Amino acid sequence: MEEKIKNLITEVSQFKASSKQEIENFRLKFLSKKGQIAELFEDLKKMPADVKKQVGKSLNDLKQAAETKFSDLSQKLTETQTAKPDIDLTLPPVPNKVGNLHPLTLTKLRIIEIFERLGFNVADGPEIEDDWHNFSALNFPENHPAREMQDTFFIEKGTKEGGDILLRTHTSNVQIRLLQKQEPPVRAIMPGRVYRNEAISARAHCFFHQVEGLYVDRNVSFADLKQTLFHFAKEMYGKDVKLRLRPSFFPFTEPSAEIDVTCLICKGAGCVVCKHSGWVEIAGSGMVHPNVLRNCGIDPEEFTGFAFGMGIERVTQLRYQVNDLRLYSENDIRFLKQFNTEGVA
Ligand code: PHE
Repeated sequence: MEEKIKNLITEVSQFKASSKQEIENFRLKFLSKKGQIAELFEDLKKMPADVKKQVGKSLNDLKQAAETKFSDLSQKLTETQTAKPDIDLTLPPVPNKVGNLHPLTLTKLRIIEIFERLGFNVADGPEIEDDWHNFSALNFPENHPAREMQDTFFIEKGTKEGGDILLRTHTSNVQIRLLQKQEPPVRAIMPGRVYRNEAISARAHCFFHQVEGLYVDRNVSFADLKQTLFHFAKEMYGKDVKLRLRPSFFPFTEPSAEIDVTCLICKGAGCVVCKHSGWVEIAGSGMVHPNVLRNCGIDPEEFTGFAFGMGIERVTQLRYQVNDLRLYSENDIRFLKQFNTEGVA
C-alpha cells in the first residue's frame, strides 16, 4: 500500500493538463468519490491498527498533494483564458470605404438635371424591343440599307405579333412608345442602354448608353433644336464651348444634323479623341419626320417636333477625359473610385 501511495504521489506531481477536459480527468481519477484516493481510504479502514497510523499519514499527504495540484491547474487555466489579447485599442479605426456612382451615372444625372430645368420629363422604355418600335415606326423602310446602319442583335426572328424581337439599337424606340400614349405637347428625355453587334475596341462597344430627347408641339422649329442643344453644351462644358451642326441622315428625322462640340481634351488643337479635327460629335438630331408622327397617330400638319440622341459615353469621355470606352464596363475599382460623387443627389 505504501508503495502504491508513493507511485501516485509521483504521478500527481508530474501530471500535466492544458485544457478544462484534462483537468476534469485529473479530478475524476484522483479526487472524486470513486477516485483512487477514496478507494485507498476504504482499504485503510480494513488495515490493522498498528500500520493504520503510518499509512493514514501518507495517504493524507497524497490527498493534500492532489488537491493542491488540482487548484493549481485550474488557476493556470483561467489565467491563460483571460490573458489580454494582443491588440491596441487606442489606434484610430480604419475608415469604411464608401462606394460612389459610376461616371456614366454621374453624367446621366447631370444631363437629366440640365433638361429638367428646360421642362423636359424623364421617360423610360424597354431594352428588348420589336422591329416595329425600333425600326418600322421610325420610318426605316423594309429591307432598306438604313437598317444595316445599326448592326442588330436579334433575339427572335419573325414572331406572329410584331415581327422580329431584338435588343434596341437606340433609344429612339421610346419616342414611339411615348408618342403613342401621350398627346402633344410632349417634351421628354429618355436615358437608357442600347446594343449593337460591334467588335469591342477603345472606340466602340456592343452596348452603350444614350439619352434621347423629344419635343413635339405646335410650331417647334429647327431653331428650337439648335438653341436647346447649345444651352445644353454650355451647361455641360462651360460657356466657351462651341457647337457645330453638320447635315446628316436618319430615316426618322428630316432635316437631320449631327451635333459636334469643340474638343475639350485638346481645346481644339487636335488630338486622338477628336481625330485631330478639334471637334467631337456628341449627338444625332433633326426634325421629327412626318411619317413618324403619322405612325403614332399625330397630324404632322398640326404638330412638328425635334429629336436628338446623345451618347452618354461620349459626353462622359469629354467631361472626364477618358480615352478608352472599355473602361466603363470593366468594373476596375481603380478606375471607378476616381469619380467623386460629393454633391450629387
Ligand atoms: N437614334 C440615332 C442614333 O442612334 C440618334 C438620333 C436620335 C438621331 C434622334 C436623330 C434623332 O444614332
